[in-house]
Amino acid sequence: MASPPHLLTLADLTVPQIKRLLTNSLVLKHNSLPWLAPHGSLSLKRASSLRLPSQSLFNKSVAMLFSKRSSRTRVAAETSAVLLGGRALFLGRDDIQLGVNETPRDTARVIGGMAQGIFARVGDHSEVEELAKYSPVPVMNALSSLWHPTQTLATLLTLHEHAHLFDPPNSDAAGTKPPPKDDNKRPVLATLRPLTIAYVGDSANVLHDMLVTFPRLGHKMRIATPADPKYRAPPPVWDRVVELECDKDIWWGEDPKDAVRGADVVITDTWISMGQEEEAAQRLKDFQGFQITEELCREGGANPDWKFMHCLPRKKNEVDDEVFYGPRSLVFEESDNRKWTIMSVFDSFVGKWDLDGDRWVK
Ligand code: CP
Ligand code: NVA
Repeated sequence: MASPPHLLTLADLTVPQIKRLLTNSLVLKHNSLPWLAPHGSLSLKRASSLRLPSQSLFNKSVAMLFSKRSSRTRVAAETSAVLLGGRALFLGRDDIQLGVNETPRDTARVIGGMAQGIFARVGDHSEVEELAKYSPVPVMNALSSLWHPTQTLATLLTLHEHAHLFDPPNSDAAGTKPPPKDDNKRPVLATLRPLTIAYVGDSANVLHDMLVTFPRLGHKMRIATPADPKYRAPPPVWDRVVELECDKDIWWGEDPKDAVRGADVVITDTWISMGQEEEAAQRLKDFQGFQITEELCREGGANPDWKFMHCLPRKKNEVDDEVFYGPRSLVFEESDNRKWTIMSVFDSFVGKWDLDGDRWVK
C-alpha cells in the first residue's frame, strides 16, 4: 500500500492542490448547510431534493491528538466529521499515554492501527513530524510551533467568498453584495484579484502558512514585526518561503504604518502564542504600537476599503473593538469557514487518501 499523504504545512501542497481543497470546501458547505436547518424546518419534499455532502468518512474515525487548547479547530473537526458520516475522537493531553508513558512513534502506530486519520495539535513541530513519519494513516497538522495550515485555508476561502468586495470601484462586479446564488449549481471558487495583504504582529504559525501560500496565489504580503530578530520567521520556515520563491512578493519591516500601505486586507494574530505565557511582559512591551486601529491604517495609507481578519482567539491589545466588531471585519466569517475547510481536508486526506501528483483520486 502506498504511504499516506500528510498535511503538515501548505508548503507541501501545489497551487492546484490548494485550490482543489478550497473548491471542495465550497461544495461541502453548499451541500451541508441545508441539512443543518433547525429541526422541523426541512420538509420531506425539500430533503428529497437535496444532495448529501460527501460521506467519505462513513464508518471511519479521525483521532484528534490535542496537547493544547482549542475552540474553533476542535469544534470544526468534530462537527464536520459527523457531516462526512464519520467520527472525530478527541484525545486531550491528559487522556492518552502520549508524552508521558509512550513515544510519538509508538502512539502513531497504535492509533493509526485503529483510526483512519490523525489530526494533531502539538507543541514543537518535530512532534507532528514524528507522528507523520511513523503513522500508517494520514496525519494532519491542527497547529504546531511552526505552522497552522488549516487556518490559512479558512482565510483563503473567506477571501474568495468575498472577492466582490475587492473589485475596483468602477468595475461591473463592484459592490457590497455577493453574486446571486443558484442552489442547483455546483459552487465555483470566485476569482480574487491580486491583493496586498498586510500582517502586523508576531511571526508565528498562523503567518507562516500565509508566507508560503499567498504569494503563490498572486498576492503580495507586507509584514511588520518588532525590531528584535526573534520576531522574524525562523530558518525552517524562511527556507521554505525561499524554496517556493515567495520571498520576492514579501516586504518585511518594523513599522506597522509602513506595512499597511496600500493594504486591501490587514491581518494579525495574538502576540503571545500558547506556550509563550512566561514571555508575556516582554512581548507586551515589544509590541507597543502594533494594535490595529482605524487611525493606524488611515495614517499608514491602507486602501480605504481595507478588510480585517484574525484567526481568533483575539485580545483587545492586538485590535480595538471598533475594527474587530466593525463593518471591515471578516473574523466570524473566517471562523465559520474553519469548519468547511477542515471538512475538506478530512474528506480529501482521510476519505479519499490517494494523492496522485496534482490530482486527488478517489
Ligand atoms: N484559530 C484557532 O486555531 O482557534 P482555536 O485555537 O480555538 O482552535
Ligand atoms: N499563534 C497562536 C494561534 C492560535 C490559533 C498560537 O499558537 O497560540
